Amino acid sequence: MSLQDKVVIITGASAGIGRDLAKRLAQEKARLVLAARSEDKLQQLSTELSEGGTDVLVVRTDVSDPNDLDALVEQTIERFQRIDVLINNAGVECFRHFENVEMDEILQTIETNLTGAIVLTRLVVPHMLQQSSGAIINMASTAGKHCPPFGSVYGATKAGLIGFTQGLRGEYLDRGITATAICPGFTKNGGIYDRIVQATGKKTSRAQGGTSTKAVANAVLKAIRTGPPELIVNWPPIRPAIVLREIFPRLGEMLTTAVSKRFLRKAAEMSAHEQDVTSTGDPDQPTV
Ligand SMILES: NC(=O)c1ccc[n+]([C@@H]2O[C@H](COP(=O)([O-])OP(=O)(O)OC[C@H]3O[C@@H](n4cnc5c(N)ncnc54)[C@H](OP(=O)(O)O)[C@@H]3O)[C@@H](O)[C@H]2O)c1
Repeated sequence: MSLQDKVVIITGASAGIGRDLAKRLAQEKARLVLAARSEDKLQQLSTELSEGGTDVLVVRTDVSDPNDLDALVEQTIERFQRIDVLINNAGVECFRHFENVEMDEILQTIETNLTGAIVLTRLVVPHMLQQSSGAIINMASTAGKHCPPFGSVYGATKAGLIGFTQGLRGEYLDRGITATAICPGFTKNGGIYDRIVQATGKKTSRAQGGTSTKAVANAVLKAIRTGPPELIVNWPPIRPAIVLREIFPRLGEMLTTAVSKRFLRKAAEMSAHEQDVTSTGDPDQPTV
């Protein structure tokens, strides 16, 4: 299926995966609506894409604010009269010892990663139903398939997105709307993983692997064109470990936790709010 002239909303388009995705969709000649809080970065990207001939609309949007989401849909319809693809990509990370996570951080993570995506989809679906067509892409994570230690709030939002996607499919596939959960592993050139590597000086283990923004963009294009339920984007493949966890929960848990614990504990300790834990001599300290 050609993406030429399709109207695509991308949240979190100002950086990382969303920014690369916008560039990739511009190559496919889609018409783009770029949404995020950093309007200056969106304008820069818009200028770059417009120079290449792409039709771009920038809408400064905080996805945790329902009024902003209303305005995003309204302005998109005003400009393009339709919405073919919604990519719920905006997200924030939250990797730290759970007992140290601030209350406002819990709420911000859930409102950005999950509530924002659900509310925006609720606003977009009526337009897709009117067209009898549409594709909804939810940027989840492998953390939503097996929630890692030190990432319980983040993983909960991503598992929520996967469940949300399944519900949408059951309801709308026979009315022309597809929904796909994209589950990238740690992604090079995307902000979250790069920030952890920069802060910790550590990379993920070979067993955990990871991916790149290019591979994630390829998966999103495939999802728009073919509408699968879920695409896990990671090398090495992790679906066998997920299946093992379903059949033998304790064994699967041991394996999936073992490959991520060391790396993410370091990430948790490097986060600003972890000073208390590290300075009081946590007996569970890593030796890295
Ligand atoms: N990188 C990875 O390793 C990885 C792995 C798996 C899944 N993912 C998922 O992929 C998505 C993108 O991640 P990334 O690595 O590209 O992160 P990133 O570079 O930090 O970019 C996050 C994007 O989300 C936007 N955003 C954050 N809070 C927002 C809010 N309240 N309203 C609107 N936009 C908001 C940011 O823009 P503003 O700050 O300008 O608002 C930015 O454009 C996230 O959902 C993440 O969970 C990432």
